[in-house]
Amino acid sequence: MAENSTDFILDPGGSLKGSLRVPGDKSISHRAIMLGSLAEGTSRVTGFLEGADSLATLRAFRAMGVEIEGPEAGRVTLHGVGMHGLKPPQGPLDLGNSGTSMRLLAGLLAGQGLELTLTGDASLSSRPMRRVTEPLAQMGARIDTTDAGTAPLHIHPVENLHGIHYELPVASAQVKSAILLAGLYAEGETCVTEPAPTRDHTERMLRGFGYPVHTEGRRICLIGGGKLTACDIDVPADISSAAFFLVGASIAPGSDLLLEHVGMNPTRDGVITILRLMGANIEVLNLHEVGGEPVADLRVRHAPLKGIRIPEELVPLAIDEFPALFVAAACAEGETVLTGAEELRVKESDRIQVMADGLRVLGIHALPTPDGIVIQGGRLGGGEVVSHGDHRIAMAFAMAALRASGSLRIEDCANVDTSFPGFAELAARAGLRIEVEHG
Ligand code: S3P
Repeated sequence: MAENSTDFILDPGGSLKGSLRVPGDKSISHRAIMLGSLAEGTSRVTGFLEGADSLATLRAFRAMGVEIEGPEAGRVTLHGVGMHGLKPPQGPLDLGNSGTSMRLLAGLLAGQGLELTLTGDASLSSRPMRRVTEPLAQMGARIDTTDAGTAPLHIHPVENLHGIHYELPVASAQVKSAILLAGLYAEGETCVTEPAPTRDHTERMLRGFGYPVHTEGRRICLIGGGKLTACDIDVPADISSAAFFLVGASIAPGSDLLLEHVGMNPTRDGVITILRLMGANIEVLNLHEVGGEPVADLRVRHAPLKGIRIPEELVPLAIDEFPALFVAAACAEGETVLTGAEELRVKESDRIQVMADGLRVLGIHALPTPDGIVIQGGRLGGGEVVSHGDHRIAMAFAMAALRASGSLRIEDCANVDTSFPGFAELAARAGLRIEVEHG
């Protein structure tokens, strides 16, 4: 094991039982910091995700002069500086592993009139950024990338931005959000049309802060020059983090688990639809709305799963859950086919290739295709898999241990902290036989 590395070691078998609450939603936590910082007045956030990604956003706004108290036990208090109150930071804003921070901030900061540099780690510095800088340039922004279209991003001050009507070439909530956030600072109307529905937390939260956003079908519009009014935000538990437990409890005989206060935004719940199509037993209890976002408790019990052809329209609604879903497919009877998911190749790792490689180590037939994968359900053995520093790959393979016949070592798991601090402890409490080894 390399120095400073973190590996997960798992004994095979076990089941998941009891009730637990996974940490706060990452997407909502980022947006709460961004909008609370720019609002007029004081916003109080509860349930904030204290993971490295959302903390990177928090630190960026502190570096731009926003007074932020916390986080303490998920509580953050933001003393908003108003739409034009950000100050130039001392140096580059380091956004670590966080694609959401970088893409949304590129939009939000494009029209501030500030000279700024956004940097990230090796994974983030290899991810495509032209998908945001190109539409932002059409709005009048000046943002440099490397020749490869990657970070660091250098944002140059411009006099003003103007609204555009943009057809998104990929179904991406990050690109949509970047354009809408730049649109707050643009003259006139900014509209984004999506090829398929993607998570709508930006639109919901803007409305929560009193900013009018008009949605008609796949088109979302707003008019620049308005203001945000502080509000309080209750961040639900992240369905993307709950997904590992939904899969773990579904595949492990004897499991009966309650996941509390999970965000059930209809643009995020594709994992439940897909698992149910595979035969999972998931009950949605106590569905209600909290601060403009639906939440529920989810009861999941073991059930025999079957392979399916995953409907393409569900892909954007479950985009972060595929590593976990591939583990479900490996434990299902028959073949699972995923298409229309080429976006998985440009996430924190190439999630199609990395998952296929790991599943093969465990003895599963997994055939990567340009835009998806074909997985034959089978018997999982043990072995060593590499997560490539991708948090969701690490947690997905941890759940595979519940059905493996031998022990598992998962390498390079430190980035689990980006979205799910305390994962190993929480999973162990529910019954996963996991230990963490720090090198
Ligand atoms: C996110 C959007 C998704 C998702 C990411 C978070 C967001 O990315 O994969 O983890 O908070 O807007 P894309 O919109 O690029 O698909």
